Amino acid sequence: MIEKTQWHPVAQAHEVADKPVSVQLLEQALVLWRDADGRLQAFWDRCPHRGARLSMGRVENGHLECPYHGWQFASGGQCVKVPALPEFTPPARQCVKSFEVQQAYGLVWVRLESGDGLLPVFAAETDAHLRKVNCGPYDVAASAPRIIENFLDMSHFGFVHEGWLGSRDATAIAAYEVEATANGVLATGCKAVQPQSNLHSTQAAEVEYTYEVTAAYTAVLTKIPEEGTSKQGWREQIGLFICPLTPETSRVWFRLAVADFESSDEQLQSFQHTIFVQDQPVLESQLPKALPLDPRAEMHSAADRMSSAYRRFLKAQGITFGVC
Ligand code: FES
Ligand code: CO
Repeated sequence: MIEKTQWHPVAQAHEVADKPVSVQLLEQALVLWRDADGRLQAFWDRCPHRGARLSMGRVENGHLECPYHGWQFASGGQCVKVPALPEFTPPARQCVKSFEVQQAYGLVWVRLESGDGLLPVFAAETDAHLRKVNCGPYDVAASAPRIIENFLDMSHFGFVHEGWLGSRDATAIAAYEVEATANGVLATGCKAVQPQSNLHSTQAAEVEYTYEVTAAYTAVLTKIPEEGTSKQGWREQIGLFICPLTPETSRVWFRLAVADFESSDEQLQSFQHTIFVQDQPVLESQLPKALPLDPRAEMHSAADRMSSAYRRFLKAQGITFGVC
């Protein structure tokens, strides 16, 4: 499964502190914890002794301790202590499976099998002019590809986000361009008139976005700055990072990279929350939950060319999880 060789977000980085944390990725239960040097560890959440959940244990002297008989595991997975046999040195094969893990964009990323792929790009991350705030997690009863597609879709704004991102009186979608990129798909020239496009909007404004799929379950919206405003040249972005839990359920984070330094984190998160809870019930109602890759399985309009390009990309990548 190609998805196993790709990096996926599994938790907010700050949630993994001095206690083990249970997470799920591609139907696999994992435990995250930090060793004595603060380095992240990701193990299979099953003790090799009698199968107890390691995430119910604790971190003891920089080792992960199983809740059942107290076996301790070091960074990398080696068992280093069997309390019932104090003089015993466990051999190298006495270990728990560990996975590659890293921290980025305020999130913990894991891949289940080795590969040569890099983390999905989020260009605004390195722009010091932009403030970064994460929103989520949201646990959503929808497949990751359905959630990505919803994010790429402007023609629902007038209905799902009426009075916020769109209105029923202005539903036409102007033609936009779609192109394949090295790691995904890019849509440019996406325009909409939005009654309340952000926290501070006082009147409707025309906005222009680009949408880019940067990995199978990651997408980035970039706001094209308006000419002649104080924010000219600032490319605000919203990243959508999804953890595929099961083929039909997902955990979702947004990362905002904005030029707004006045609002509180809570105010920024609250706006994003308002928008996403409008999307969530419709998303969870869609059937089939897996995204159909056969072009004949659902009907399409010219306004859906980005979604069609995304489906072709998933097919070309050989993605099987969350699609049908
Ligand atoms: Fe983990 Fe026995 S089940 S130490
Ligand atoms: Co929406």
